[in-house]
Amino acid sequence: MNAKTRAWRGGLAALLVLISSAGYADTATDAQVTVHADRPGAVIHREIYGQFAEQLGRGIYGGVWVGEDSPIPNIKGYRKDVVEALKAIKVPVIRWPGGCFADQYDWRDGIGPRDKRPVRMNASWGGEDSNQFGTHEFMDFAELIGAKTYLSINVGTGSPREMSQWIEYITADGHSSLASERRANGRDKPWKLDYVGIGNEMWGCGGSMRAQFYADVYRLYATFVHASVSAPIVRIASGANADDVGWTDAVMSIAGSQIDAISLHNYTIPTGNWTHKGSATQFGEGEWMSTLQGALHMDDLITKHSAVMDKYDPKKRVGLAVDEWGNWMDQDPGADQPALYQENSLRDALSAAITLDIFQAHADRVRMANIAQMVNVLQAMILTDKSKMVLTPTYYVFDMYKVFQGATSLPVDVQASAYRYGNASVPSVHATAGRDADGVVHVALVNLDPHHAETVHMTLSGVNESNVHGRVLTAPDISTINTFDQPDLVKPTAFGGATLKRGMVTAVLPPKSVVVLDLH
Ligand code: AHR
Repeated sequence: MNAKTRAWRGGLAALLVLISSAGYADTATDAQVTVHADRPGAVIHREIYGQFAEQLGRGIYGGVWVGEDSPIPNIKGYRKDVVEALKAIKVPVIRWPGGCFADQYDWRDGIGPRDKRPVRMNASWGGEDSNQFGTHEFMDFAELIGAKTYLSINVGTGSPREMSQWIEYITADGHSSLASERRANGRDKPWKLDYVGIGNEMWGCGGSMRAQFYADVYRLYATFVHASVSAPIVRIASGANADDVGWTDAVMSIAGSQIDAISLHNYTIPTGNWTHKGSATQFGEGEWMSTLQGALHMDDLITKHSAVMDKYDPKKRVGLAVDEWGNWMDQDPGADQPALYQENSLRDALSAAITLDIFQAHADRVRMANIAQMVNVLQAMILTDKSKMVLTPTYYVFDMYKVFQGATSLPVDVQASAYRYGNASVPSVHATAGRDADGVVHVALVNLDPHHAETVHMTLSGVNESNVHGRVLTAPDISTINTFDQPDLVKPTAFGGATLKRGMVTAVLPPKSVVVLDLH
């Protein structure tokens, strides 16, 4: 059992104790939800809807980048279908090039004429990397889809000099030789670099460091992240794996004053066993339940890490960036499947929804989150196979929840009955709410019970709207997926199950569903 497994199991035990003490009734009763629109909370940073795109498998090659000469319709080498799909969900930020890949990446391999770039072994994930997708391709891609840029810096095998030269190459406006080199390579104006991550998983694939050692390394690198005052770069420290609050404590205590945000990584493994994680499609209700419990564990994790951060940063200047999260299942058994390719079912949609609910509940601390990963890797938004593309159930949750980007969070109380399976249980109903810039209140409601509809009675304090409409996402089975041949099996449809009378919404949530309501 590796460290991640131990951490997950410990956290799950804590979660079970926590949810058995309060929050929901044991017998099936209607759920009561109160939205406190009269007590607005923090702004929901758009960046919690961020994506992670690592140079591995078909995450980039074939998934995003096909090259200008490809028969697959493309915009300057980027798949047209994927670009349009990502634009539609308003991807706010993309993290690249890793992951573990980042700490062995030499940025100089990925600039200059493509036919002259070196082919390198992908030591982290197997196979080779042609470097056809490099700095220009990433920065232009982000610009094309309107996303902010987040680079993972090579700390494990790189140097502060390489980092500072990479940053200068990207951001310098004057006549330095690096700016001139960028121009010679086809980009006149500097790009906007929004975030840098100083290493990735430095306790593991990034260099097997101890927290105290890394904290000093962080200070060293952070000193050389130069940017103009008008375009500051947010510096993100490589944070903890799951429950390891000791890491957060040490890094915050030694380097906190130089940190703008610290990361947190957490994956849900349905079986809790990294050797046999569980199938993405062939699973029963036991792994439906354990996956949802794993997703709910995020609340406990954020609470614990945030409490440690409060010791050094009570005013919450430093953000928490959950820059890798999601479900990690066994790789698809297909013979020629690339690394970390997995199908995506209704289960992934519901676990994504409740995780996003948790991020929004912690909007005061969580400033960014990046689901792992964007295309063809782990809990992907999009799957591709040559010229075919399919949007996953997780994609549709991001589509439904995009109304919360930049909204003001509204506190929500939920009283719901338990959904039980065997000895395990979770509250059947989850909720989140926000008011957008136009004053529209949006409420997301999730019913985790795969067998029973849930009636929700929702009181809205401080809401005068009189119309309600929304969309619902559900499917015939807990493991239903969208396939290349049947891409619309799990797709949002208009929701007719809600009424609004005298300030009270009544909504009947179908079993295993996500509903997002708009109140006008
Ligand atoms: O997302 C896949 C891998 O998971 C990343 O490369 C690494 O950071 C994490 O362990």
